Amino acid sequence: MPENPSSAAPTVVRLPRYTKANQEEILGGGDDPFGVARTGLTWLPKEEHFGIRHEDRLVAHAGLLRLPVAIGGATTEVVGVGGVAVAPDMQGQGLARLVVTAALEHARTMGPQHALLFCRSPLVPLYQRLGWHPLDKDVLVEQPEGRLVTMPLRTMVTPLRDDAHWPSGPIRLLSLPM
Ligand SMILES: CC(C)(COP(=O)(O)OP(=O)(O)OC[C@H]1O[C@@H](n2cnc3c(N)ncnc32)[C@H](O)[C@@H]1OP(=O)(O)O)[C@@H](O)C(=O)NCCC(=O)NCCS
Repeated sequence: MPENPSSAAPTVVRLPRYTKANQEEILGGGDDPFGVARTGLTWLPKEEHFGIRHEDRLVAHAGLLRLPVAIGGATTEVVGVGGVAVAPDMQGQGLARLVVTAALEHARTMGPQHALLFCRSPLVPLYQRLGWHPLDKDVLVEQPEGRLVTMPLRTMVTPLRDDAHWPSGPIRLLSLPM
């Protein structure tokens, strides 16, 4: 019997690319779908993309990329997570949990010991529910023309290995934020 795609459990797929049109398919074409325009920050696109399709439409996304970071004077890398999005009519059904969990499974194969994301304060409890921890210190990030700014959003991290511990010391992302 053919499977009815609308009743099948949602599954995460690797997306070969993720365009502005894909993002609009999920979140619509509004000016500020992530609610971060007030920061005025310039962001990096992500390099690896995970998505969920529902009835031939992309309804969720999470993106990843490796980023250099200085923590307490030592330089290392983190997996940056960004562009987490679920279509408004599909929110509250666990799709962010599903797509972020799948992205993190892949992140565990990328090398860095931690994943890091930036989010608005109201989303901290949601990411805590997914196992992330807020960092209660300022994080410096790069901006065009070599400017260094303090990230105004909350920074959250999650270990990618059982034995990973976030090092102490000041944190500076050696790139644009993602
Ligand atoms: C933020 C967003 C991705 C969440 O998507 P979602 O599919 O509704 O999230 P989920 O249903 O997977 O919820 C994830 C978990 O957080 C929990 N949660 C949701 N809101 C919460 C809150 N305010 N406090 C605590 N936990 C919360 C859910 O119960 C769920 O936990 P559970 O799986 O243990 O039940 C979605 O609202 C969105 O796309 N917003 C617009 C774009 C955006 O702001 N993206 C964030 C970029 S950092």
